[in-house]
Amino acid sequence: MTNWEELEGRCQTCQRCALADTRTHVVFGAGQKDAEIMFIGEGPGENEDLQGEPFVGRGGQLLDDMLSLIGLYRDTNFYIANIVKCRPPRNRDPLNTEQDACIGYLREQIALVGPKIIVCLGRIAANRLIHDDYKITREHGQWVEKDSIWYTAIYHPAALLRDPGKKPETFVDLRAIREKVRQVCPRTY
Ligand code: URA
Repeated sequence: MTNWEELEGRCQTCQRCALADTRTHVVFGAGQKDAEIMFIGEGPGENEDLQGEPFVGRGGQLLDDMLSLIGLYRDTNFYIANIVKCRPPRNRDPLNTEQDACIGYLREQIALVGPKIIVCLGRIAANRLIHDDYKITREHGQWVEKDSIWYTAIYHPAALLRDPGKKPETFVDLRAIREKVRQVCPRTY
């Protein structure tokens, strides 16, 4: 198995897809590297590309605020990354070919972190990590266990900014995440 330094080095110089040509920074991931819970988005936006950090724009601020309500903080008890590590132009969805090229890095990160829980942020991540053809409107908040990891998905923070009417459902999901953390993550709280 790899180590963090070697893995990040490979990501920083990656040329596996055309997103390498337009990126400012590779957005590797951030947070506590031995956390019991991981959050996974789809790919960097403009602010993330400029700063090299995941979820640092308006959506990221909303996410951090919401997670603080259930006692989760990226500096102390969760790790956050994306399905693709480079920004898709004009924030379009990452292509399947781009996801295929990049997902191996995320799988290595997951193996290094060793989380008990993975929370997908939005449909794209849920499609990749939970199952094909995931319907976020219908399936958010549901739990599936695969290879001893509990998976769920919540609405992407950008979707909550576009449609604040979805926030109450997300707060229900967040309370369920807090409960699952209490059950399966003895080191988190
Ligand atoms: N949206 C994502 O999916 N990931 C980020 O890092 C930022 C915005």
